[in-house]
Order: sequence, then C-alpha cells, then structure tokens
Amino acid sequence: MAETQLDVRGMAKADGYRALESQLDAVLEGIDDPIAIMSTMSCVLHLGFGHLWTGFYRLTQPNRLIVGPYQGTLGCLEIELGRGVCGTAAAKKKTIIVPDVHAFPGHIACDASSRSEIVVPVFDARGELTAVLDIDSREIATFDDEDQRQLERWVARFAKPVLGRTS
Ligand code: SME
Repeated sequence: MAETQLDVRGMAKADGYRALESQLDAVLEGIDDPIAIMSTMSCVLHLGFGHLWTGFYRLTQPNRLIVGPYQGTLGCLEIELGRGVCGTAAAKKKTIIVPDVHAFPGHIACDASSRSEIVVPVFDARGELTAVLDIDSREIATFDDEDQRQLERWVARFAKPVLGRTS
C-alpha cells in the first residue's frame, strides 16, 4: 500500500470529509478489526484536518474509559464515566461539541493547547456503547453540526455486525 496522506484543510468541510472517507474506504478494504479501524480513522482525520488530538477512548469496564488508538500529544490514560467531555458524552451516549473548553465545567486538560473539541459516542452492532471518538483542536469553535453529522456516520462503521467487537 502506498497511500499518500491527504491534507484537506483548504477544502470545504463536507468535501474534506468526503475525500478522507474515500481514502479510508480504500485503505480499510477487507479489514474488519476494530482496533485497526480506530487507528486508521484517527490517522486519516488527524492529518487530514491538522487537529491537535484525534483518537478513541474505549469502554472496557462499566464505569471507565481507557485510551485507545490515537494521534497527537500524550492523552490521559483513563477517564471515569461522567468526567470531562469524554466521560460526559459516554454517560449521556450523545455527541458533545465544546466550542470553548475553558467554559466546560470539569474539562480534562491533557494538553493546554486544546481550545475546542467534539466527542462522538461509538456503538457496536448490539447498540451498546463501546468507545468514544474524541477530537481536540488548537482553535476555538472548530466543530459544528457538519462535523457531528459526518463523524456520527463515520463511527457507524463500528455498528456493522462484523465490526462489532472492540475487545
Ligand atoms: N478533552 C478530554 C480529555 C481527553 S484528552 O484531551 C485527549 C475530556 O475532557 O474529556
């Protein structure tokens, strides 16, 4: 495989997601391992948009998320359900967009350069919460409804029956 990593920063957001998704589809053809998919998705999104941190926290115990495949600076290793943006999104099973992390009570600052973020819950084929996708940006208000729509579609891959396992 000799894929060149795309940088879509000059494109309209929807077009950028479309271009990256085509690349993801091509790279992941025939791959059904969820960790391989999480790693590849993190890489494609991270380098494509130039984010600060892009990756997954996995729900391997009922009340705690543990860091999974990611790209970026060192992430916190464990997050309790209900804590920070990731823990809140996991507890509520809903996407959370935070335009200014300093205004989010209880935000966990793994990297002081983080200014805004989006966290999207990931469900398996049985509809069980299995992880969250966390993306952090150096800029204020990076994420909007378009990111939510696209990323919720992207993580729906993990709900396909063959992709349901994360452990
Ligand atoms: N921002 C997250 C913590 C994880 S890291 O930033 C990678 C949060 O408040 O949930």
